[in-house]
Formats: sequence, structure tokens, C-alpha cells
Amino acid sequence: MRKNLVIAIDGYSSCGKSTLAKALAKKLGFIYIDSGAMYRAVTLYFIRNEVNINDPAAVQNALDNIELNFHARDYNSHITLNGEEVSEEIRQMQVSGYVSEVSANKQVRVEMVRQQQRMGKSKNIVMDGRDIGTAVFEDAQVKLFMTADPKVRAERRFNELQSKGDQVTTLEEVFENLAHRDYADTTRKESPLVRAEDAIILDNTELTPEEQLKFALDKATPFLEVIS
Ligand code: DC
Repeated sequence: MRKNLVIAIDGYSSCGKSTLAKALAKKLGFIYIDSGAMYRAVTLYFIRNEVNINDPAAVQNALDNIELNFHARDYNSHITLNGEEVSEEIRQMQVSGYVSEVSANKQVRVEMVRQQQRMGKSKNIVMDGRDIGTAVFEDAQVKLFMTADPKVRAERRFNELQSKGDQVTTLEEVFENLAHRDYADTTRKESPLVRAEDAIILDNTELTPEEQLKFALDKATPFLEVIS
């Protein structure tokens, strides 16, 4: 039995997983780990260094040369790739367009899962992603599976991009990218996105962030006594 508490949040792209995970971590004083940021940072490295995803030796060499670190500031996880802060760059469309392909690679997944498991070995954490409750921490005490209306999700991501100064990407492009990633995430061979049997569904199409936080806290509270 784990002595630390692991809260696993999985679900589709742009469902508000990270917003909820951050709020939850802040409220509980846990560490927040954005596993998607890790796949995005690896993708950025692959793009920059023109790593051939179909060449296992090249992929392994790249993975051996990548060091990822999180720096928690205000519960906004900042990720560094070989010491360089890349938190903004990994959200750009160029990375979003290629991350499904990179994250479907078995070598990449094995390495990311190894690092994620190390991060959650002894600390109380909230981790969000696609396979956290099914592959990374099958024994997580609290598992949530988030979903929301695809149109609402596209609008949310579009607004996020706009607020960061992206005036080029259209709502249609965001919608297409999300549809593409949903398809890729759920149909890939390696750890496809699927709800763990013991995960609780949270559809947040019509829920405020506060309502989602309350929902998650209600699920986590019974386990807090065990670790205190
Ligand atoms: O959560 P996100 O949109 O930032 O994730 C980026 C991509 O990484 C997403 O398209 C699927 C992949 N991913 C994954 O395969 N497994 C995870 N645990 C997290 C993300």
C-alpha cells in the first residue's frame, strides 16, 4: 500500500485537466505534474533536432540527451528542456500538430513513464495526462476521467491561444487539431486513452472551475486521513 497519495487525472485534450489539477494541488499542498508537458517538450526537441521518429537508434539517442525538469512556481508548472524554459513554446501549434505522433512511440512512452513513476514514488502528487490511472499509477487512490463537449473544448483552447497573442490560428484549426488528437490518443497501440475501470467520470461542459474543484475534493478527502 502506498504511503503517499496519488491523484490521477486523465481525459481528452483541452478538457481542463490541468486547470483542475493545479487547483487541487494548490488546495491540498501537493505537487502538480503535467505529464503532457513532458511529451510536448520531447516533441519540441525532436522537431528542433530533426529526429527521425522511425529510427529507433535516433530516438534512443535523443531520449538519452533530453533532461526534463519541473519548477513549480505558483502551481503553474514550468518545464525546462535541458535547462531551457520551454513552457510557452511547447503550447504552440507546431508542437500540438506533432505531439500525437511522438507520444505514440513506445520508446518515448517507456522513458516518460519511468520518469513519472519516479516523481510519484514517495510524494503526494496530482498528475494529469492520458494514461496516468491506467499505466503510470494503476494504484492511484483517486482517479478522475475528464470529458467535455468538443466544441466547448475547442473554444477554450482557442481563447487560450488568443490570450497568449496567437492571432493566426483559427477556431476551425484548433477544432481539427483536437479531433485529430482525440482520434490518435484513443486508437494508438501504446497505452491508448481509455477510462480506467475505477476512474470517476467528470464531464465539465457546464461546470465552473470551483464546482470541479469541489467535486474532486469530495473524492480525495476520504484518503487524506490515511496519509496524515
Ligand atoms: O495534455 P496535453 O494536450 O498537453 O498533451 C499533449 C499530448 O501528449 C496529447 O496529444 C497526448 C500526449 N499525452 C500522452 O500520450 N500521455 C500522457 N500521459 C499525456 C499526454
